[in-house]
Amino acid sequence: MANYETHEFDVIVIGAGGAGLRAAIEASAQGATVGLVCKSLLGKAHTVMAEGGIAAALANVDPQDGWETHFRDTMKGGKMLNNWRMAQLHAQEAPDRVKELERWGAVFDRTKEGKILQRAFGGHTWKRLCHVGDRTGLEMIRTLQDKGVHQGISIYMECTISRLLKEGNKVCGAFGYYREDGRYVLFKAKAVVLATGGVGRAFPVTSNSWEYTADGHGLAYEAGADLIDMEFVQFHPTGMVWPPGVKGLLVTEAVRGEGGILRNNKGERFMFKYLPEATKHEFADTEEEAKRWTDAAVAGTKTDARRPPELSTRDNVARAIYTEVKEGRGSPHGGAFLDISYQDSERVKKKLPSMYHQFKELADVDITQVPMEVGPTMHYIMGGVRVDADTGASRVPGLYAAGEVAGGMHGANRLGGNSLSDLVVFGRIAGLGAANYAKAQSSFSSIPEKEIQSAIDELEAPLARKGGPNPYDLQKQLNDIMGTYVGIFREEKDLETGIAGLEKLKEEIKKVSSPGSRVYNPGWHLALNLKTMMVASEAIARAALLRKESRGAHSRLDFTKTEDEYGTFNIASSDDNGKMKLDKTPLPEMPADLEKLFAKKEPAHA
Ligand code: FUM
Repeated sequence: MANYETHEFDVIVIGAGGAGLRAAIEASAQGATVGLVCKSLLGKAHTVMAEGGIAAALANVDPQDGWETHFRDTMKGGKMLNNWRMAQLHAQEAPDRVKELERWGAVFDRTKEGKILQRAFGGHTWKRLCHVGDRTGLEMIRTLQDKGVHQGISIYMECTISRLLKEGNKVCGAFGYYREDGRYVLFKAKAVVLATGGVGRAFPVTSNSWEYTADGHGLAYEAGADLIDMEFVQFHPTGMVWPPGVKGLLVTEAVRGEGGILRNNKGERFMFKYLPEATKHEFADTEEEAKRWTDAAVAGTKTDARRPPELSTRDNVARAIYTEVKEGRGSPHGGAFLDISYQDSERVKKKLPSMYHQFKELADVDITQVPMEVGPTMHYIMGGVRVDADTGASRVPGLYAAGEVAGGMHGANRLGGNSLSDLVVFGRIAGLGAANYAKAQSSFSSIPEKEIQSAIDELEAPLARKGGPNPYDLQKQLNDIMGTYVGIFREEKDLETGIAGLEKLKEEIKKVSSPGSRVYNPGWHLALNLKTMMVASEAIARAALLRKESRGAHSRLDFTKTEDEYGTFNIASSDDNGKMKLDKTPLPEMPADLEKLFAKKEPAHA
């Protein structure tokens, strides 16, 4: 048997973005020994790509805000498919988590009175996003990292987990390898928290970096957990479209929150015509009214004007841009124009410093002088591991999940800024849940050598195989299928073609070969990640086929309405023969005190 190093912790956390770090901090604060495993270097998680802010009803700028309105906005944005208990905890606890970040050293932008400044974002009734220019996620990671390191958490960087280990039905550890030299590593643990983020690399255009290969989705599914509502994939409306090397890179929603205007190649401000009937009353209906709102936002004064149409929810704006381009009104490189250059250039540089540098350095575009070109980019998956709202526990004993890898919180569509708050709210909850579970275990499980040998055999198979398909070709094929048949707009025949393509690809993936050694072998890493991406992709496509309606981020050309009978969760799990099955499950009933929040008329903007 190959050598491997062994570590033993009460709790191991896989993933070091906002959720993983917060879970690790909490578990450690509860007295658990904690190991934090990250695939990349510490500080590089996708959390840094939530640039525009963290949503929390602090009511510093708009005093009318409160957790109830945040809860209602989140549920409405998720088209009522959210796990209501998660949405409730999220709205109630987000303000405390933001204040905690501040106590731990995060330096947020300030109001004139010295309070944490909040900005507007799509789907939020009030100015709710606490921010640090357009580098909020980065500041959060810096803060949590400092806190975690000082708390004595052991950190394993550039380490990929390839398998969760079980004793009977419960999780008792994880096996993986160091990316640099392929050394194997065994983590024995009483509880495991998955905080691995998303699945973006299954799609051709994404804001996600190379790490986001659905690791946690795949690991959890293989271990017997349920995946919930995987059909809901968020295309952020504004990614870079040019130059090709940075296509998909995020252009923060904060640009629109600060007054950025979307136009097509005819100079039309097209978002006015894409506002859904049900929410039209929330938005300005003329350029003059939208300008009144923006002028007041820039001056920091109150307005009675309604929000600009660019601040519609992401699903809606992404579909609008896609449609404009498809109908021939796109920008030269196949996007829309996003313009903030009409504002004072010093203000733009101060509010959006990263965007200024990103466009200047990568595209030679000065956003203080000319519009940007932007288009939809796969950014986030609402679906994920089904967890208990109050503990983060999956249905597999000892296995917890938090952040993007967990599903339920955001329903059919996530509001911008609700991800950063989700990470710290549910990171804490899962860390606490895992530490409590670990305390109740009398000892570490013994892991049979044959389990470890089987994990090693699986890792070494692509190295040993000769002449099989190349992992990069297979990823390209996967991207093509997901982009062509399971994208922003879907329909039955496309989804069926996509699923048939995925079935074929699954067989090819079993033959993948990446010859060479374990040392510095990125082809081998990708070969191993194809399996988890395939689990997520299959779940997305099958759940999308099952949901014969349009809701939130799931748009069916053949079923354009939202149907009451589909007000259900779609659960993907593995059947007894290892085949993926999908079930519809009724939503849990919302208690009357929360239900009544939806009867209330929306507050008028003041
Ligand atoms: O646009 C953004 O800054 C992204 C935020 C988010 O995904 O929450």
